[in-house]
Amino acid sequence: MTLGLEIRDVTKAYGANTVVRNVSLTVPRGQFVCFLGPSGCGKTTLMRMVAGLETPTSGRIFMNDKDITDTPVHRRNFAMVFQALALFPFLSVEDNIAYSMTLRNVSPADRRARVRELLELIKLPDIGRRSIDQLSGGQRQRVAIARALAQEPTLFLLDEPLSALDAKLRDHMQVELRQLQQKLRITTILVTHDQREAMTIADTIVVMADGVVQQIGPPTEIYRNPANRFVAGFIGQSNLLDAVVVDRRYVRLGGSLIAAEKMPSNLQEGQGVTLSIRPESIRVTSESGGNDPNALAGRITFMRDVGGHIELRIDCEGRELVGVAMPAEWACIAASETVSVHLPADACTILPR
Ligand SMILES: Nc1ncnc2c1ncn2[C@@H]1O[C@H](COP(=O)(O)OP(=O)(O)O)[C@@H](O)[C@H]1O
Ligand SMILES: [Mg+2]
Repeated sequence: MTLGLEIRDVTKAYGANTVVRNVSLTVPRGQFVCFLGPSGCGKTTLMRMVAGLETPTSGRIFMNDKDITDTPVHRRNFAMVFQALALFPFLSVEDNIAYSMTLRNVSPADRRARVRELLELIKLPDIGRRSIDQLSGGQRQRVAIARALAQEPTLFLLDEPLSALDAKLRDHMQVELRQLQQKLRITTILVTHDQREAMTIADTIVVMADGVVQQIGPPTEIYRNPANRFVAGFIGQSNLLDAVVVDRRYVRLGGSLIAAEKMPSNLQEGQGVTLSIRPESIRVTSESGGNDPNALAGRITFMRDVGGHIELRIDCEGRELVGVAMPAEWACIAASETVSVHLPADACTILPR
């Protein structure tokens, strides 16, 4: 038996426009999964099908092994929080949170106790009597989350719930949301276009582009071993360099041979590929690389101190690479005419083109 949600080969088309294509994935019970991808890639449509607000054109959706594809929204007991919140402006915070319990005929005493608990949980124990227009944006968002949780949903769905908040509050709320979910162990799906948000929050990230799933995995796996060029470019910053396969371990990058540990086994000699390496994996030193086959000669074209580390742009035979250096290395590198740019073999991922 599969505990949790299963999406099986789901497609959604609006007329001739297919916006979600053959998506299959599972959200195991208690996990936090993010649907991540650029705007328009079909994240909301996929989530709306899970919620029951849209019907798949083909494919099925299961919850705890039960086919719910045709179950109406109100019988699914899923809770949703959207970017544009619909808190009831004419009700107090307490009454907003208690709303679903009123519908379920929970006794007034139990309702009050539960509201108190949820207000504690969102760290706003003293605002129950306030009206909604007396709250800040972040407080409203937390009340919306508490109201959704009061439903005791079997699945918690959040569609870009933090994107209207300013950067600092958003950061804070991401951490809070994650902690809240870990405490309650509630099965949760969050839709976002913000890769940093997905990295912060998720147990598993589902990366989407053009309605198609590109990769599914834990954040570190997706970051370290991107499945293709799209994922490598979309998640964090990556240097994506055109290279040619030499054999099962080496590629040629301009005039240099580069050993790469992460190389698919089905590549042909002479085939054009992309070498992907993260800026923080590149080591820049002032000495020459000597005989090191994994070093390129480069020239620093730009440096900026972004606090904590220094970002470098390096010209290597006409290719621009982004790297980072620690402040201690700064003076030494800044003074050198040419630098040695080392690409550690275990940080080089080869992606088919
Ligand atoms: N009801 C609809 N009718 C027609 N096209 C739609 C409808 N809803 C969404 N779309 C289209 O489907 C695509 C995916 O939309 P959406 O799921 O909202 O993307 P995302 O949430 O990733 O930004 C977009 O091109 C959008 O215009
Ligand atoms: Mg959307």
